[in-house]
This record gives sequence, C-alpha cells and structure tokens, in this order.
Amino acid sequence: MQTITTIKEMSGRLEAFRPEKRIGFVPTMGWLHEGHLRLLKTAKSLSDVTVLSIYVNPSQFGPGEDYSLYPRDVERDHRLAEEAGADFIFLPPDEEMYPPGYQTWVSVDELTRHLCGASRPGHFRGVTTVVTKLFNIVRPHLAVFGQKDAQQALVIKRMVYDLNIDVDIVMAPTVREKDGLAVSSRNKNLTPDQRRAAPLIYQALQKCSKSIQQGNRDCARLKKMVRDMITDNPLLQIDYVECVDLDRMQPLRHISASALIAVAVRTGTVRLVDNIIVDI
Ligand code: PAJ
Repeated sequence: MQTITTIKEMSGRLEAFRPEKRIGFVPTMGWLHEGHLRLLKTAKSLSDVTVLSIYVNPSQFGPGEDYSLYPRDVERDHRLAEEAGADFIFLPPDEEMYPPGYQTWVSVDELTRHLCGASRPGHFRGVTTVVTKLFNIVRPHLAVFGQKDAQQALVIKRMVYDLNIDVDIVMAPTVREKDGLAVSSRNKNLTPDQRRAAPLIYQALQKCSKSIQQGNRDCARLKKMVRDMITDNPLLQIDYVECVDLDRMQPLRHISASALIAVAVRTGTVRLVDNIIVDI
C-alpha cells in the first residue's frame, strides 16, 4: 500500500492504471472501522485498484459542530487500510484541498432540504464539494458509500448524474455492532452510559419496520413510535425522525412504496444517525 499526500502525485500515480484497470474509491474521514473496511472490501471486489482517502473535511462541519473533536489517528488508519488490502491511501492536507483564495462550491438543492440537510445547514455543500474534488483527483470508475448515511449516498448519486461525472456510485449496507448500534467513528466519543443507551436507536427502527410489515402505513404514527421509544432514555435527544421517499427525499404521510425512515439523535456532544429502507 502506498501513502500519498499531494494531489499531483495521486492523479499521476493512477494515470499508469488507466484505461485498462478499474479504479475503485472509498472516501472517508478516517478513524477507520468495520463500516469503512466493508466499503473497501466491496470496492476491491468490483475493481482492480482501490484508493481509500482520509480527509476530515472542514467545510462540511458547521460552527459549533465536532470538527475539533473528530477522532484522528493516521497510524492506526494506515495499519487497518493496509490489512484490508487498499492499494493507495490518500491523505491530503488542508492546504492541498482548500488553498488560499478557495471559493468554488457544489450544491445539490432539493435532496438536501430535509433530514441532515435541514439540521446541519451547509453540511451537504461541504460534502458534495469535497467529493467532487476527490472524484476529479482520483477519477475512479466506481465509488462506494454506506447506507448508514443514506441521504449522503443519494445526494452524491444525484450530483454525479446532474454533473455528468462518469463514476458508478455503489451503496453498501450498514455495518452494526452486535447490539445493533451502527458502527461510527463518533461512537468513540460516547461515555459508557451513552454507549449503553445508543442501541435503542436501531431497536426503535426495527420496531417501526415490524409495524410496517404488520400493515401500519401512517408516517405520523410510525414516527411517534420511534420518537417515544428513543426518548424513553433521557440521555438521548431526538434531532429528527423522518419518513421520506427515496427519489426526492420528501417527507411522506403514508408509506406506499419504498421509503427511508431516518433518525438523528444527540447524546452529549455526539450526534448519531441511522436509518432503514423499507420496500412494501
Ligand atoms: P465517514 O463518516 O468517514 O464515512 C465514510 C463512508 O463510510 C461513508 O460512505 C459512510 O456512509 C460509510 N460508513 C460509515 N459508517 C458506516 C457503517 N456503519 N456501515 C457502512 N458504511 C458506513 O461520510 C463521510 O465520512 C464524509 O462525509 C465523506 C463522504 C468522506 C466526505 O467528506
């Protein structure tokens, strides 16, 4: 595995593989965990050369969010990426990604209006901008994103379609801890009490899924059920519980086809997201 920190070197090194080899890409913010490694595995199975980027992108964090608390450990990440078989690890510093005078942004309108787009203004503009930049640097044939951040994956899919970026976007399933909590870099910042409370989020989503299977289609009732179950624990505060369609990410009143039930919860300084996709 080779570690690369400059844009020039990253694009240059990959040039040797094009056009014969398929380049697979997994963008991350590091503090690698089983979720990231599963994306890498998926990318490896679909391509010949895999690149994993690690960049804690400042432009997707709002003022007062956890940018400075975001866990970082390059050595550990390096070891895990190497064990998982990445060919290249791309670690650009801020000066490479946002040089002085930087002023160009990419934004996706409608799909970012609800869910995390509503509760984190500017977040998706940062994500779509940095992912566009990374796509232009790596020029992958395919890129893998996790369902854990389903809105992000769908926004990126829309962005590459709208901007004619020639990359296949693959969405891989959410990897969970044994107790159901979605694996996340942010779980590291949970206190033992918060960690014990956190699996309630997925339990509530499972209960919701069961209720849908039993014929409940009313989103207000379904959302209340999820909300009530989570807020039963005083350590968990709801940011949002929403039921949206998968095409436009607009809030639904009734579930009539496939839908995304998404939740964001705050506990102390940590914000946790999770979701399920239901198809009836
Ligand atoms: P990060 O939170 O590091 O996540 C990188 C990728 O890993 C994303 O596609 C995310 O959905 C996926 N992922 C995280 N936890 C997962 C889990 N438990 N199961 C499956 N996949 C999981 O998302 C970002 O970074 C950034 O916004 C980024 C796209 C890198 C742009 O800065």
